[in-house]
Amino acid sequence: MPWLHTVTLLLGFYLISDINLALATDPVDLGRSIYEKGIGRDGREIGAVIHKSISLKGAAIACIGCHGSDARGGGEAFVQAPDIRWLNLSKPYPARRIAASSMSYDQSSFSKVLRTGLTATDRRLDPIMPRFDLADDEINGLIVYLGTIDQPEHTEQNRLIILGLLPKSGQNTLADALDSKLKNCPTTENGSPITAIDMLYFDTPEDAMIKLNNRLSKNMNALVLAPFLLGWEQQYVEAMQHNNVPTVLPFSVLNPPDESNWVFPFPGLESQILALLKSAKAEGYMQLRIYSEPKNSLSTKLAAVAAKMASTYGMLEIINNSEAIYQKNKIAILWLKQFDTDQINQNSLKDELALIPAIFIKPSLAIGNFQGDSLQKKYIAYPYNPKIAGSSVWRTPIDVWAGAVCKFLSLVGEKSISRNKLPEILQWENDFFLYDKPGLDLLSNQVFIYKGIKYLQ
Ligand code: HEC
Repeated sequence: MPWLHTVTLLLGFYLISDINLALATDPVDLGRSIYEKGIGRDGREIGAVIHKSISLKGAAIACIGCHGSDARGGGEAFVQAPDIRWLNLSKPYPARRIAASSMSYDQSSFSKVLRTGLTATDRRLDPIMPRFDLADDEINGLIVYLGTIDQPEHTEQNRLIILGLLPKSGQNTLADALDSKLKNCPTTENGSPITAIDMLYFDTPEDAMIKLNNRLSKNMNALVLAPFLLGWEQQYVEAMQHNNVPTVLPFSVLNPPDESNWVFPFPGLESQILALLKSAKAEGYMQLRIYSEPKNSLSTKLAAVAAKMASTYGMLEIINNSEAIYQKNKIAILWLKQFDTDQINQNSLKDELALIPAIFIKPSLAIGNFQGDSLQKKYIAYPYNPKIAGSSVWRTPIDVWAGAVCKFLSLVGEKSISRNKLPEILQWENDFFLYDKPGLDLLSNQVFIYKGIKYLQ
């Protein structure tokens, strides 16, 4: 189904107001603590199994003991510990071991090697290298720390840091689904590595900004990739205004707010509304009625935007709910609350057209499934084409976002992308493309409108 989760879930996120501040654990500090002392999150001693059956804890298995304080490895032991600075591990052709296969690590293969001892090419490491019981955020901390560790030839300041920003797991099912897809980006056809994201997990928007600023204060040569911003877009944009760190592929249902440095945004609800109004106008609809939810701030805000657009674009005359509908004009109805067939059946007229942004329609009423209602026409706006060309497969928002993010990460691995020099178009899966800095009009042209027609019997 195109929108897995109904509007209640999505809008619910916008209504969260009571938020408590949580203590921020900086991933770099967490990574250093594990690396040097074997102390993980919340002060726990990390555990590991060495030589297949010996369980050890804490300092005894701290990475520093074998890989050295500079993570360059070496040592006198029979099996030498390799250089595990992240830059080295994530290189396509690292010279970590003589005759080692030339496969590089990303987030998921790094987790695998630490937990199971199987390398990116499924070679089993010598049993002297411990198999660790590390959690995802602890592994993430290690990646971040190994990326910052002393590297004369590539200091951290020169390396573009890619930060992610997602709610902690269990808070939002969409965010969890996105997180798991991003951990499993497919490898590119030419085998180039998928760059790792330094993922920051937050409790609340306040917590997110503390973590993000903490990380940025150590290195501003960064970009924020696919931050999960549902409901706190404005707060985020204001907090990011003092730096010029770009936000790539923001996860939001809105257009880029003014003053935002957003790159590759999907068309938000504002552009979807504009695209719907344009197509209604093109079909000769002259009057517009807006159904909104007075108690919902997103819905009322969008209603105001829609009314303004209708007059700015000289398109449709707004009629309010109490006015009688005159049969002489064709009337379009813009749904900015959950589309409701009951209301339609009571009030509908022959020449009515329902304009519905996809998040306001139940998956069960999605394309092609309009049984049981008498409305003649529906136009549904999607931020992307929800159906794979020539097949009946549906794309979910998570599929589409993750596809774009994985493609972006592979570009970072292949090309010399810098914070100030991002591509102008992001294209993936043949039929998808996004512009770097689209305006409202360009975004509205990117909207996909499904025209569903069901004739009255
Ligand atoms: C007791 C010594 C020891 C400790 C402690 C240790 N390692 Fe290792 N590690 C090794 C050795 C030896 C190898 C190489 C084994 C091989 O090549 O078969 C290795 C290999 C690795 C590799 C694979 C690199 C490659 O080239 O494929 C990674 C990644 C790694 N260690 C990370 C860590 C991290 C992170 C920690 C701490 C959380 C750690 N190690 C703690 C000894 C150790």
